[in-house]
Amino acid sequence: MALARRMQLIQPFHVMALLARARELEASGRSIIHMEIGEPDFVTPQPVLEAGHAALSAGQTHYTPATGLPALRERIAAFYGERYGLAVDAGRILVTPGASAALQLVLACLVNPGDRVLLADPGYPCNRNFVYLFNGEPVSIPVDAGFAYQPTPEQVRAEWDATTAALLVASPSNPTGTLLDRATLAAYLDIARGGGGYLVVDEIYHGLTYAEPPPTALSISDEICVINSFSKYFGMTGWRLGWLVAPEQLVPELDKLAQNLFLAAPTLAQHAALRAFEPDNIAILEERRGQFRERRDYLLPALRELGFDIPVTPDGAFYLYADCSRFTTDSYRFTQQLLEEAGVAITPGIDFGNNCPERHVRFAYTTSLEKLQEGVRRLREFLL
Ligand SMILES: Cc1ncc(COP(=O)(O)O)c(C=O)c1O
Repeated sequence: MALARRMQLIQPFHVMALLARARELEASGRSIIHMEIGEPDFVTPQPVLEAGHAALSAGQTHYTPATGLPALRERIAAFYGERYGLAVDAGRILVTPGASAALQLVLACLVNPGDRVLLADPGYPCNRNFVYLFNGEPVSIPVDAGFAYQPTPEQVRAEWDATTAALLVASPSNPTGTLLDRATLAAYLDIARGGGGYLVVDEIYHGLTYAEPPPTALSISDEICVINSFSKYFGMTGWRLGWLVAPEQLVPELDKLAQNLFLAAPTLAQHAALRAFEPDNIAILEERRGQFRERRDYLLPALRELGFDIPVTPDGAFYLYADCSRFTTDSYRFTQQLLEEAGVAITPGIDFGNNCPERHVRFAYTTSLEKLQEGVRRLREFLL
């Protein structure tokens, strides 16, 4: 039986094969330093765990409205006030099963078959596959260190045509950890509006930044679709909970889609997440942010000293995107060798697009400082 043609376009992540091999090696007694994993190593903070237990004990096991628990939508809206000094109408917030579902909702709502969606390359690998799901055409914009690994407004303008539905960017970005400033976001919006399309900004790594906090795109316009999640800053990956702030006119359409696609985000997770914004929980998250910064401040100079080229200091997320061409012309083989011979797992560039992937790898500092130090020691031994 023939499968849908899109199944040939959608690729698995190479890092998954690497992770499976790493687990195999570990099962045979080898020690592996994991710097490939894109989620915080910390367990969800205790206050949220307790709120989850309490919700379970109280029998909170039914569906919520498709747009999310009203109290959580209100709480997220209040958070924009607390964090960014911004008034956001809770009616524009949809709670989703992770940022993943938010991305799918937005693209389902905006993309006609054949429509172009502009994406940064390197970028988050799922995005192009989401575009394929809706029979759109993902268009890679090659980004480089010259503009902090984000598309320049000139590139976006040059790529935007009558069949372009949206530009999708992330700040901070995965895999590069770089941010977007207000002027660039405003320029993107101008182009998108002028072209009759939308700007979608993925802010999933907001909160995990180590210099001046970046602006939320919501502070520029109510017409931007903004995606966020409880996965990264809040340390709740496995709860599968995120959100989307949408332009008002899209909300009934997105509500309709959410009803059909997933009915609602997980109820227990939504109740637990209500607790995530309280000051005692935020204090834990801020302490963790400090640890991430400490790790970045160790790993960045250590990798540069080894000979990896990381031309832009990443001010967010927990990734370092490094040019490894001093050591190899085949970054995928390089990651395999590192795993087998040095016991260090990192992600090959190929998982993030087609823009010189053979020259790049991603390091994730989602493991303790001690493990990172051991990883660097192993890298030194292997490389020098
Ligand atoms: C840029 C980006 N967007 C979205 C996601 C999806 O996150 P989730 O569905 O866990 O919220 C990820 C996960 O790694 C990501 O890196």
